[in-house]
Amino acid sequence: MLVKIAATGARAAGAEVTYIDLRDLPMPLFDEDLEAKEGMPENVRKFKELMTAHQGLLIASPEYNSSITAVLKNAIDWASRPLPGEPGLAAFNNKVAAIMSASLGAFGGMRGLVHLRSILGNINVLVLPDQKSIPKAYEAFNADGTMTDPKQQEAVENLGAKLAGVVAKLNP
Ligand SMILES: Cc1cc2nc3c(=O)[nH]c(=O)nc-3n(C[C@H](O)[C@H](O)[C@H](O)COP(=O)(O)O)c2cc1C
Repeated sequence: MLVKIAATGARAAGAEVTYIDLRDLPMPLFDEDLEAKEGMPENVRKFKELMTAHQGLLIASPEYNSSITAVLKNAIDWASRPLPGEPGLAAFNNKVAAIMSASLGAFGGMRGLVHLRSILGNINVLVLPDQKSIPKAYEAFNADGTMTDPKQQEAVENLGAKLAGVVAKLNP
């Protein structure tokens, strides 16, 4: 729900946005022996193609034990792997990201964003200083996917719009 709100802001600022739910692209746990034996799984190829086709990344994650989810880390690890002949980190090079989190707790998942920022920064992604963490997520959203606090709604939309603006400036 959170990333969809940011996407609304990015679209309003002129970006073309594709929504990805990692649930729709299940990937095996990354294992270099599996990769050597079976190659890159179909869903990883699809995920990488989508990433390569886009210049910005809006990422939302809940927080598990003070970090990002294993599902998100696994997707990042797979996407960091090159296809034969592909340059390293092709899915991440020259990308700009805005990151956000939502959780039941009081910190809103912000400890996980510290890790996410560090991971992305180390694989050539420029992560915007602005980020958004939504605490008490169980009461932060309406059934229609908007936020119960209009100011939060606006702030999340603005984060998406900011990413769209930076991406447009870097890719004139
Ligand atoms: C193994 C596990 C660890 C968790 N650790 C944290 C945590 O460190 N901080 C936090 O705010 N919430 C934590 N939670 C609560 C999650 O934020 C909450 O379950 C959230 O709704 C998960 O989002 P999802 O349903 O989209 O996966 C944890 C939940 C699980 C299952």
